Amino acid sequence: MKHNIILIGFMGTGKTTVGQALASELAWTFIDTDKEIEKLAGKPIPQIFADEGEARFRDLESQVIKRTMIGEHQVVSTGGGSVLRPENREAMLAGGLVVALTADAETIIARVSGDANRPLLAGDAASKVRKLMQEREGAYDFAHVSIDTSGKDVDEILQIIRAHAI
Ligand code: S3P
Repeated sequence: MKHNIILIGFMGTGKTTVGQALASELAWTFIDTDKEIEKLAGKPIPQIFADEGEARFRDLESQVIKRTMIGEHQVVSTGGGSVLRPENREAMLAGGLVVALTADAETIIARVSGDANRPLLAGDAASKVRKLMQEREGAYDFAHVSIDTSGKDVDEILQIIRAHAI
């Protein structure tokens, strides 16, 4: 298997926090696909959605995922919707160990509330989280490993990933 760890999961499951800690522990490169999309578009994610629509965002996301999977020794944190396209799932599975982070709705709502950077949650974040979680039920099940992060701290999550990755 290629030497990459790809973190997938719904918004607010801790992909970025866990990814940064894991990358620094392994001395691997940390890649946040949302940040790469922003670099490619030259603007923040809410602006991409507002100016060019979600479909354009998803096209940029697919480009970034495929390009990133060429590299090695990377911890890759992906956007919550990146699993929706089969081509992205295939690229991730071919790219390394895919680890899904999950959390219950209450945990996610608490983690994302007050964050204005997620256009899909603008307005009533709690009801949007519940609706999107339902729509995406099963979408993260293709991962090699799945970890429920609710009530766990970063060290506990890293320990579980380490047990699968080494
Ligand atoms: C999205 C999740 C976001 C970001 C965009 C869309 C989604 O990333 O890619 O706002 O569709 O779930 P995070 O999961 O890092 O918040």
